[in-house]
Amino acid sequence: MHWLDRVTLHRVARNRVTLCAAMLLAAAPAFAADGPRLGQSISPSDLSPWDISVGPDGAGLPPGRGTVAQGELVFAAKCQACHGEKGAGKPNDALAGGFGTIASDKPAVKTVGSYWPYATTLFDYVRRAMPWNETKSLTGDELYAVSAYILHLNGVIGADDALDAQSLPQVKMPNRDGFIPFPRQGRP
Ligand code: HEC
Repeated sequence: MHWLDRVTLHRVARNRVTLCAAMLLAAAPAFAADGPRLGQSISPSDLSPWDISVGPDGAGLPPGRGTVAQGELVFAAKCQACHGEKGAGKPNDALAGGFGTIASDKPAVKTVGSYWPYATTLFDYVRRAMPWNETKSLTGDELYAVSAYILHLNGVIGADDALDAQSLPQVKMPNRDGFIPFPRQGRP
C-alpha cells in the first residue's frame, strides 16, 4: 500500500469515530427520557405475596389468632418430622432449649428460646421459610398457633395463651437484652 493511501484510510476511520460519537450525543437525551428499560413496574397484587416482612415491633403482622394447643397439632402434622418431638431437634435444628449456653464457656446452643431477640421474627421466619418442603403454605391462624407452641416449649408463654397481631409483639424473649446495639448512621 502506498503511504498516501494509508494516511487517507486513517483519516476516514477517524472521521467515522467522530461521527458516531456525535450521533450518540445527539441521541442521549432521548435514551435518558425513556430510562434504561430494565424490567417493568410490578402491580400491587403481584407484589403482595413477596411483601411479607414483619418488623420487630409487629408492623406488617397479618390477621389471625392461634392458641398453644392448636399449635401443638400444627407442629405434630407439619414440623415434627424435621424438628423432633417438642422441637428437641433432629434431623434439623432444635427449636427449644439451650438456655444459659450463649454467654458462657459452654458451646452455644442457639435456639429460638435461647437466642432470638424478638418473637415477631419467629412468626416472620416460619411464614416465609417453613415448612421447609412447602413454604408459605400455612394460614395466618396456623402461623400464630405454631409460633405460640414454640414459644411455650421455651417457657416464654403459658400453656393457655393465644397469640395474635396485638399480643405477639408484647412477648419478651429471654435473650432480648443479650445483643449489643449497633447504630448505623441515620438509623436507630
Ligand atoms: C422438611 C423438613 C422441615 C420441616 C417439615 C420444617 N422445617 Fe423448620 N427447618 C428445617 C431446616 C432444614 C431448617 C434450617 C434452615 C436453614 O438454616 O437455612 C429449619 C429451620 C427452622 C427454624 C429456625 C431455627 C433456628 O434457630 O435457626 C424454625 C423456627 C423452624 N424451622 C420452624 C419450623 C416450623 C414451625 C415448621 C412447621 C410449620 C417447620 N420448621 C417445618 C427443616 C424443616
